Amino acid sequence: MTKLLFVCLGNICRSPSAENIMNHLIAREGLGDRITCDSAGTASYHVGNPPDRRMAAAARKRNIELLGSARQFQSKDFENFDLILAMDRENYQNILALDPVGKYKNQVRLMCDFCQKYDLKEVPDPYYGGPEGFDRVIDLLLDACEGLLQYVIKQESLSASSQQES
Ligand code: 4NP
Repeated sequence: MTKLLFVCLGNICRSPSAENIMNHLIAREGLGDRITCDSAGTASYHVGNPPDRRMAAAARKRNIELLGSARQFQSKDFENFDLILAMDRENYQNILALDPVGKYKNQVRLMCDFCQKYDLKEVPDPYYGGPEGFDRVIDLLLDACEGLLQYVIKQESLSASSQQES
């Protein structure tokens, strides 16, 4: 089982979108028994809140329902997840600030590292912008999630073949 955690600032826009888009792709591929997803925010402002309505409306246009409620990222998430996907560099730094000796550094990646079509380095924060910003987040995350899914499938088959060899 591969456990993925998506992290943004508030856990009401970008990371719940990534989580639910990824779940959508996992269901499409019938991989629900092999990959699980969760999301969290580095800040606590919105803990307990559902995803932002504007974000949910943008996702719904692509037939994706945003489920879940916000929680804050915590140090024990390093132990509980195989891969932690930060939406932007600030999220990345705030996550690694909770890992002062760098024990988990290799588990933390920028979400846009997995983009195949877009060459943006960060998922832009849509919170203070107009509706087009939310649509852009969905498009970018659909691309990054497709790339991430390919990566996870490849990693799983690599680790399965190395287990067979040993
Ligand atoms: P998110 O977006 O990090 O993608 O969930 C934001 C949500 C709330 C705020 C900022 C960004 N805020 O400042 O309250």
